[in-house]
Amino acid sequence: MSNQQPSEQRLWGGRFTGASDPLMDLYNASLPYDQKMYAADIEGTRVYTMGLEKLGLITKEELSEIHRGLKLILAEWSEGKFVEKPGDEDIHTANERRLGELIGKNISGKVHTGRSRNDQVATDMRIYVREELTKLAGFLKSFIEVIIKRATKEIDVLMPGYTHLQRAQPIRWSHWLSMYATYFTEDYKRLLQIIERTNVSPLGSGALAGHPYGIDREFLAAELGFNGVIGNSLTAVSDRDFVVESMFWSSLFMNHISRFSEDLIIYSTGEFGFIKLADAYSTGSSLMPQKKNPDSLELLRGKSGRVFGSLAGFMMSIKSIPSTYNKDMQEDKEPLFDSLLTVEHSILIATGVISTLNIDAEKMEAALTMDMLATDLADYLVRKGVPFRETHHISGECVRTAEVEKLSGIDQLTMEQFKKIDARFEQDVFETFNFEQSVERRTATGGTAKSAVLKQLTNLQSQF
Ligand code: ARG
Repeated sequence: MSNQQPSEQRLWGGRFTGASDPLMDLYNASLPYDQKMYAADIEGTRVYTMGLEKLGLITKEELSEIHRGLKLILAEWSEGKFVEKPGDEDIHTANERRLGELIGKNISGKVHTGRSRNDQVATDMRIYVREELTKLAGFLKSFIEVIIKRATKEIDVLMPGYTHLQRAQPIRWSHWLSMYATYFTEDYKRLLQIIERTNVSPLGSGALAGHPYGIDREFLAAELGFNGVIGNSLTAVSDRDFVVESMFWSSLFMNHISRFSEDLIIYSTGEFGFIKLADAYSTGSSLMPQKKNPDSLELLRGKSGRVFGSLAGFMMSIKSIPSTYNKDMQEDKEPLFDSLLTVEHSILIATGVISTLNIDAEKMEAALTMDMLATDLADYLVRKGVPFRETHHISGECVRTAEVEKLSGIDQLTMEQFKKIDARFEQDVFETFNFEQSVERRTATGGTAKSAVLKQLTNLQSQF
């Protein structure tokens, strides 16, 4: 009995004209977005057919016909001349259909021997992802180098460092830059590790159970530039951890970018005035002529949400799906491609922003206030042998007295006032009230002294 019901017996109608729902074809198709992987798909087939030839499943002549056809298809895609046809469900079926048209189905029909779209798509994705991630690594490296260059050049500029967005202690602007260069360098290293884990071959695993003709998977892997093969055929076709990791990486990177952007947005406000964005990365308001909005930074900040959303969405798509391949997994592509593109553009925009903004060193230094040296005041007494817990309290007392006396800062207290608070204060206490010296005292690794910041920058640079 056929599945087809006479239309009058259907509980719903409308779109059905034949055996299938036309919307289902659209719903099922991934070609609109997986055509990005055309080159990877062609390369996978090129190498796979070499494996078939080694097994004697196709002849040398057939192999060269196949390779000739694949070359033509590659050219069609790259010149934008590939003509999609109804029934081209995805990049794999589209390329195979076209190969048949070009070299005849008698030969093209052999290409898929022992292969499934399940190991094919997993292979294509890994080739595509490793290339995209490698491209991102290159852009990221340039971004970090721009930050390092800027930090080296502007090493003398001091600014307030913040915790809880409250002025905390003086730091160097370069120390702030170096903080993000450090984050991004860790991102860079993490990215290389993910590329490493992505770069293993599923090809030759068939639909799930392995290859029926004993294809040389190690040969296929080596030819495709993979570092090895995935050791279990069921894992090979079902594993999308490299997709999850790529999106997690993207999310974490964008998270760092969002904090970087938020800092710069704050620093660009009239109240702070530490930096001014180049016109290329800001826009005016349609209503208020005086406005210059940091749109680039707001978009960088905002897009972090979109990228994390992609990760969360795909994690939900594959949660609890049974082994091995299920069509749910086709949902890996759009969020992944979107994340990778968003990250690529974000790195380029962030690079543009940081290399073109202007800093206002005077405003940065003018924002330093004497109360930010209260810790240094406590440290002064520590150097005279007083336990820190006690000096912390004494320094707090100085801050309070200065406030009560309505002085502009703790440096305005007289010697008598200091002595009254604690007899161990001496005339040299006034040497404490120097921002440059405060910063320069922090020479320990990672600190804000010029030597320490420069060392951070060389260390970062040496990692590339
Ligand atoms: N377009 C599919 C995907 O991206 C290819 C794999 C299809 N395999 C299958 N058994 N339906 O996941």
